[in-house]
Amino acid sequence: MKNGTIWCDDQGNTIQAHGGMILRHEGVWYWYGEHKDAPVSIQNGMEHLNFVGISCYSSTDLMNWHHEGLCLTASEDPANDLYLDKIGERPKVLYNKKNNNFVMWWHVDRRDYEYAKQGVAIAERPEGPFRYVETIHPLRADSRDMTLFQDVDGKAYAIFSSDWNKTLRIGELNDDFTGYTGRYKDVMQGQSREAPALFYRDGLYYMITSGCTGWRPNSALYAVAEDLMGEWRLIDNPCMGPDYRNTFHGQSTYVFAVGEQLYLMLDHWKPGAHELKSSGYSFLPITVRGDYMEIPWQDEFVL
Ligand code: DGJ
Repeated sequence: MKNGTIWCDDQGNTIQAHGGMILRHEGVWYWYGEHKDAPVSIQNGMEHLNFVGISCYSSTDLMNWHHEGLCLTASEDPANDLYLDKIGERPKVLYNKKNNNFVMWWHVDRRDYEYAKQGVAIAERPEGPFRYVETIHPLRADSRDMTLFQDVDGKAYAIFSSDWNKTLRIGELNDDFTGYTGRYKDVMQGQSREAPALFYRDGLYYMITSGCTGWRPNSALYAVAEDLMGEWRLIDNPCMGPDYRNTFHGQSTYVFAVGEQLYLMLDHWKPGAHELKSSGYSFLPITVRGDYMEIPWQDEFVL
């Protein structure tokens, strides 16, 4: 798989799993993401890429991907937050051991990005179908780019850009992963970071983020903390190689591990209602040593 380009599934169709994440469950990899190969309509005089749902792909080797279809589908009810006039971005899924189910959260918005909500859906199986639960303003605030993180003790957290993207908020989720406990921590206040991707390694939490420049790439930065809900320290840009200043023309979306090896997933956005579906992907190996991190560019994703 050539990094920076759009990849195809086992049927030869482009993989539509943008702003995505990879979950491993019972020996299978599941890749969830935004399905952007959708009709374009006119909303308030502007082109709008219709929301059709969230895609799920499965693989046993991270190279060959099978489309499991839309695991969360759009609603036909114009009053519903899954209607085609909405936006659904950055879906993330966790397995909930207590209930033996799968919980999805994603960014719900309108074309003007002023709705700024989160959606919750639940499924019995990783490939769905996910049943829509509700959309909320988490902790009574606006929320745009978001991710989920499961800590080593099993607790789950949602991390989202809030206060009009000025702050990254880490909110603790309840035991069912379906709502907030009310416990939260604001980090990187006033720094306007988005596209958060977190992981834990040997006593340290790491968070890779991007700046807020719409679809245009910018410099990634990472931060570290000893305590997820403690003080985070911004460290550096982890990217190395050509175009490291603009994250190799990409933007972070998730970090997954294959054994001990960590990989950063990037989206290479192609802005425009008709072009977003052609946005490429990269999976790049991450090296960490204490609070030092490096992510060199690689032309190919190889295991
Ligand atoms: C940057 C975000 O990271 C994307 O998910 C998307 O919301 C674009 N902004 C929209 O401009």
